[in-house]
Amino acid sequence: MSTRITSFEEYKTVYSESVKNPEKFWVSVAGEYYWRRKWDEVLKWNFSEPDVKWFTGGKLNITENCLDRHLESRAKQTALIWEPNNPDEKGRTFTYRELYHEVCRFANMLRHHGVKKGDRVCIYMGMVPELAIALLGCARIGAIHSVVFGGFSFNSLADRINDAECCMVITADGAFRGAKDIPLKNVVDDALKNCPSVKKVIVLKRTGSDVRMQPGRDFWCHEEINNTHHDCHPEVMDAEDMLFILYTSGSTGKPKGVVHTTAGYMVFADYTFRNVFQYNDGDIYWCTADIGWVTGHTYLVYGPLLAGATTLMFEGIPTWPDAGRFWKIVDKYKVNIIYTAPTAIRSLQAMGLEYVKPYKLDSLRVLGTVGEPINEEAWHWYNDNIGKKRCPIVDTWWQTETGGILITPLAGITPLKPSFATLPFPGIQPAIVDENGKELSGNNVEGRLCIKFPWPGMIRTTYRNHARCRENYFEQYKGYYFTGDGCKRDENGFYRITGRVDDVIKVSGHLLGTAEVENAINQHPDIVESAVVGFPHAIKGWGIYAFVIPERERSDKEKLKKEISDTVTKFMGSIGRPDKIQIVRGLPKTRSGKIMRRILRKIAEGDTSNLGDTTTLLDPSVVDEIKAGAL
Ligand code: WTA
Repeated sequence: MSTRITSFEEYKTVYSESVKNPEKFWVSVAGEYYWRRKWDEVLKWNFSEPDVKWFTGGKLNITENCLDRHLESRAKQTALIWEPNNPDEKGRTFTYRELYHEVCRFANMLRHHGVKKGDRVCIYMGMVPELAIALLGCARIGAIHSVVFGGFSFNSLADRINDAECCMVITADGAFRGAKDIPLKNVVDDALKNCPSVKKVIVLKRTGSDVRMQPGRDFWCHEEINNTHHDCHPEVMDAEDMLFILYTSGSTGKPKGVVHTTAGYMVFADYTFRNVFQYNDGDIYWCTADIGWVTGHTYLVYGPLLAGATTLMFEGIPTWPDAGRFWKIVDKYKVNIIYTAPTAIRSLQAMGLEYVKPYKLDSLRVLGTVGEPINEEAWHWYNDNIGKKRCPIVDTWWQTETGGILITPLAGITPLKPSFATLPFPGIQPAIVDENGKELSGNNVEGRLCIKFPWPGMIRTTYRNHARCRENYFEQYKGYYFTGDGCKRDENGFYRITGRVDDVIKVSGHLLGTAEVENAINQHPDIVESAVVGFPHAIKGWGIYAFVIPERERSDKEKLKKEISDTVTKFMGSIGRPDKIQIVRGLPKTRSGKIMRRILRKIAEGDTSNLGDTTTLLDPSVVDEIKAGAL
């Protein structure tokens, strides 16, 4: 079978075969790779434990498939293009051969510092080539990487390091992002006050800012890598050995470490990448996501390199030095495929067309979006002004837990419908269920989105807490993987994702647990209790609305709000900073003490006409007070 579907007819045939005989289908895809040993069994699974294993008995190293495998035919082809934050600084490029050597040297350095197969390594960096190299360097020696987004602060970083018991942190002195210089190493120093498992810190020099190096623990990357060899024997991994952990927010408690394993993730990342974007040899492909999120893992690093593509990485932000930066980069490198987030599109749309007009954008062939539902207005703006109505938009729906794209058009193949993620990818069997878990068959239905059959890239467990994985995803609706998203299927069987149905909010495409933000707010010594909900936001998709109860009446309310914002930034990171803070005397609680978030959500949305039944509240009068003070 060819690894790329080329027509809608072919998609329909492949899809139906993939559902009829999933094992045969995935074997036909998996044959392509460099296996040290082929698998004994394609798939073993049950969704009650859950226990999912793909390609059991297979042995491989994913970096041999990303790099070594391409050296014969692509050694001189550009693998990675890096565009720095400052447009006046020179960019860097790496051919497949160069990237291979960089990864080998990095891997040898990790080995030299005692990192072994199975060890967890935390990576906390800005968007520099060494970040991608660090991921691959870990994978080369069988260490499990856990990347933490550079926008999280010391407390969030420490939680993630401790949960995974990382032995090493790879970081940089700082990171450039727009006009800012983020002091990464200082944040790491603060985090490590409470992280006993970390023995070594490797520090990349990027911004040149002053940092404190702790002798015996902290090492400069350029010094350590200097004498390492440029070849590195890869660790031979089992198909189901862990490849990485990536933390994602849930409705309760601390973020959970989503675990992905080697072979299934590899096959899924590559196969989805080629088909969704219809990548052609020689194309320049740009995913604007940060590697701190799953999109950066799968569709900036692993997917494109597995496919032998040229992948572009950008250090900065879309609005600096001005709102034309994305389009300038597209023209500069003649980008053919761009994959970005609706929130970025909306923010650039709001800045006006004068930032788009100077650029030709004629190299573009495919546009992609991910991370949240794309509203029709943004879809049309993207289509008209960026794609000039000649580029298909792939609205790709997936999650950290799914490893890769599950519902999506295939570029130029699947008919499009604005704001619809359209149809399931081959091998993916979605089900829409009602609140009782009954599957709604046929078209024109709306409910909760589940998946009823395993796919190779799916989550295997949550790190060191398998029960949490079961409870979160597999217990609500027996026999299904539950996504946490609401969904409609239209008269033609096309899927539209309607948004989260649980207590997590998608803020600028980033998943945040309301509990996490509340926890950060409660670090302020004067706050007794808080409740956080989302509200629709024109640019961010969703904004954060916090209701807070102070310990005592304070006359300087604005000062208190500022302090709360700063507290959240300090403990969690600026991505958790509330857009609105309302100081209240009480929260709407039931007699059993449970906060009725439904009521708070309505107030935050500005829809107070019908708050539903409030008679079960302990003190219904707080609702009127909150309503009266709503922002
Ligand atoms: C949302 C990001 C609508 C959804 C890859 C999902 C989307 C959550 C789309 C996962 C889309 C992602 N349309 N909603 N095309 N893509 N989502 O784990 O709510 O950061 O459950 O993974 O993003 O977010 P995560």
